[in-house]
Amino acid sequence: PTPDRAVARHPAWLPPEAFGPLGIRSALVCGTGPLVDTVVEELTRAGTRYGGRVHRHARAGAVELVLALTGADPLPPVAARLAGEVAGTLGAEGFLLDRSGHVPVLLADTPAGLLYGLFHLVRLGGSAFDLHPVERHRPALDRRMLDHWDNVDVHPVMGQVERGYAGGSIFWRDGAARNEPDRIREYGRLLAACGVNAITVNNVNVHATEARLLTDRLGDVAAIADLLRPYAVRVHLSVTFAAPVVLGGLPTADPLDDRVRAWWATATRQVYDRIPDFGGYVVKADSEGQPGPFTYGRDHADGANLLAGALAPFGGVVHWRAFVYNHRQDWRDRTTDRARAAYDHFAPLDGRFRDNVIVQVKHGPIDFQAREPVSPVLAAMPATRLAVEVQVTQEYTGQQRHVCYLGPWWSELLGFTPWGPQGRTVADIAAGAGRTGTGAGGGRTGTGAGAGRTDTGAAGGRTLPGGGLVGVANVGADPFWTGHPLAQANLYAFGRLGWDPRLDPRAVLDEWIGLTFPPSTTGDPALVRRTLHEIMDDSWRTYERYTAPLGVGFMVNPRDHYGPGVDGYEYSPWGTYHFADRDGVGVDRTRATGTGFTGQYPCPWAERYESVEQCPDELLLFFHHVPYDHVLRSGSTVIQHIYDTHFAGVEQVKTMRQRWQRLAGLVDAAVHARVSGLLEEQLRCAREWRDQINTYFFRKSGVPDTHSRPIH
Ligand code: GCU
Repeated sequence: PTPDRAVARHPAWLPPEAFGPLGIRSALVCGTGPLVDTVVEELTRAGTRYGGRVHRHARAGAVELVLALTGADPLPPVAARLAGEVAGTLGAEGFLLDRSGHVPVLLADTPAGLLYGLFHLVRLGGSAFDLHPVERHRPALDRRMLDHWDNVDVHPVMGQVERGYAGGSIFWRDGAARNEPDRIREYGRLLAACGVNAITVNNVNVHATEARLLTDRLGDVAAIADLLRPYAVRVHLSVTFAAPVVLGGLPTADPLDDRVRAWWATATRQVYDRIPDFGGYVVKADSEGQPGPFTYGRDHADGANLLAGALAPFGGVVHWRAFVYNHRQDWRDRTTDRARAAYDHFAPLDGRFRDNVIVQVKHGPIDFQAREPVSPVLAAMPATRLAVEVQVTQEYTGQQRHVCYLGPWWSELLGFTPWGPQGRTVADIAAGAGRTGTGAGGGRTGTGAGAGRTDTGAAGGRTLPGGGLVGVANVGADPFWTGHPLAQANLYAFGRLGWDPRLDPRAVLDEWIGLTFPPSTTGDPALVRRTLHEIMDDSWRTYERYTAPLGVGFMVNPRDHYGPGVDGYEYSPWGTYHFADRDGVGVDRTRATGTGFTGQYPCPWAERYESVEQCPDELLLFFHHVPYDHVLRSGSTVIQHIYDTHFAGVEQVKTMRQRWQRLAGLVDAAVHARVSGLLEEQLRCAREWRDQINTYFFRKSGVPDTHSRPIH
């Protein structure tokens, strides 16, 4: 391994200036424990730079800020009474901030709460010292995890990081641990500052070397865990279901075989011997060629429960992915619908998973397309802990060469109400919250499996904790962490929305701008802020406009998934079709005439999606095959909508580029140069998308653009 080298890394949302308002004050920190030490270290570092001091004794003289554990003894008079009142009510990660007196007091029951509170103060900046009523904060979702699809060995096709667009892995290089502790520590800081509390360190596709992280390469994982522990980030491992065979030399990995059970028990105990706070396993089984329980005639519950049994004595969990479908299907067979697969495999298993199994569900039924409906699995398993999985890495949203702020999308997803406006949200499901609404679902109206189902909440009156929010990480060895400097905002927003799904994504972006481009470092803070909002707020919809239309998805180049490839997957075994012909386009997923997928939703969505009139425009082609002259709810025809959005999307990218030019000289030169270069590529690629999509549909349909714009 090469030793740590001094790489100039961009500080992302934690530049030293962000600590200025804290660094000039004298602060008192009460409490003990490793995470309290982290808080002290952070404040000391800020104080060293800005002249403030950190005190550790309750009787220290004049202090301007107090951060204290409610159980610390002694506490200063300014904190003691309130601490007595609130002790035990703040939660495992929560905190309270009292700015009603002359000294702000931050209280937490746990050291983790104190750490999150510190970063809350950083976000508040100078206003942390303004008068304000008491606020309490605690995360809505307990589990906020990033999955790194990092390989230890460079994979011949996927490289060091599968679907990674930010250079190599921060953990691994050419088969070995990268051994750059500073970088991993800085990463941990960034994660804590946005609220992420868990990661996996290797790809869900577990190849030969990576399998060994569980056994003889465990030391590498333990080293990462040691570096992240001071920031309250727990480490998980992706494991191969075939581990007992490939690592243990057993003849079988059958989940019901005692030898297999014993093997997992021993392997897992050894993991906890090295990493006592190890989080657990992540498993992609019987999916895209990965091994799984099907080989032995068992199902996913058998498989997941096997690993859960091994983890249970240590408090670990298994994240079992629901991304299971037939990737060797025949495009001629119109009855097989990939969108149905996760529900068909998993919904019947509801209630069979052990309590420390989390079924990890991709947010949409297909595969992280720029627009998909919410996965019906999320509404179909009331007796199972469910996690929602999103892609922070921009595999299908511009690969960190395009500006595409994903906060608004995740916010829509987390706020989606599968049972209608009065019912629970996706965030509630991921939080494991009981029924908060009445559930708007009505009686039985559909013929599909789920149609008409009402929200039953947790089965049997049991309240299970939630599975949380999981994101595929977008971080790599790139000095900007995320390749595109503005893609840092996605990582930040992921953590913040996991903490509080109700946050306005524009407000989250605003926080990110304020931290990343501190006013003191930019020539014109107001212009910088405004311009970044103008460029980023709507950038996901801009991306949607110039790529695949109306939710049809997957018009990308096969393999690298970048740029237009309208028919790239049309005759492939992957099950991702658009069925465009001379008359129309889209996938008929209705119960009446199509694959029946709409029946997997509860009311009212089963009905809305089934109806070509009521289906939201942005998902029309996901659910229906319609003629080109079909009139959308917007009033435009499908074909004219395709032309209009594609022309508009490119113009919007041109405007982004112009706006970014205004910031030359006002923001860090390296950031400016990197983004400028990438905007050129975004514009080139958007034009390519526009021209291929428009030309394709013009040739298929023969319908001219009503505005006679150039179509080739
Ligand atoms: C996508 C992606 C794969 C990945 C898979 C998954 O299909 O292209 O690289 O392995 O998702 O989520 O497992």
